Amino acid sequence: MLWQIKSPTFEYCTVLGNTLILHPEILAILDKIKMNKTIVVFGSSTGTCEAIAEKIAQKLGCEAINVQDLTAEVVENNQNLILGTSTWGAGELQDDWYDGLRVLQSANLADKTIALFGCGDCESYGDTFVGGIGELYNGIKESGATFVGAVDTDGYTFDDSEAVVDGKFVGLPLDDVNEDDKTDSRIDAWIAEISPNL
Ligand SMILES: Cc1cc2nc3c(=O)[nH]c(=O)nc-3n(C[C@H](O)[C@H](O)[C@H](O)COP(=O)(O)O)c2cc1C
Repeated sequence: MLWQIKSPTFEYCTVLGNTLILHPEILAILDKIKMNKTIVVFGSSTGTCEAIAEKIAQKLGCEAINVQDLTAEVVENNQNLILGTSTWGAGELQDDWYDGLRVLQSANLADKTIALFGCGDCESYGDTFVGGIGELYNGIKESGATFVGAVDTDGYTFDDSEAVVDGKFVGLPLDDVNEDDKTDSRIDAWIAEISPNL
């Protein structure tokens, strides 16, 4: 034994040769930190959803990754998944999310907490406003995951949206095309709501 770090009650760790032995209580704390990890995953074609994802990640103190880099291991290593997509076509997912969705659908999401957000354009695409959020939700809603962060439709002007379920958006809609002045306050209110659940 070369050295030990001790508290009055127990040894935190012991070095034996070149092996570091951690006390079980330290291992339990490390496991808990790992299990509470949060990651933001975004799909973005022209950078809007990416910039928003970076902002959300910064406020949550976590990393944001492109959905192109989403793997089974990333899913496994994070307890909280904050998933963002812009909407393309007529209410469709951002292109890169189709592969990402398959990764999520192959994973065990039963113990995960998931929050959704997305960007759209309520003026030019008022009939399919942020439909991508709805497609993402529909793809994983039967996974057993806990969904947090549904948002009131009050304060949004649109005609129809696949992202509205039981009278609420299933995630946070953001419209940087027409209402970028509202984006920061919408993000802040949403983060305040989801944070206690992460
Ligand atoms: C061809 C095209 C189709 C779009 N379709 C929709 C739509 O159906 N619903 C919506 O809310 N926004 C729609 N949008 C708006 C985009 O979602 C919006 O510009 C978004 O900020 C793009 O984000 P991104 O750069 O992260 O991909 C569309 C934009 C384009 C150019």
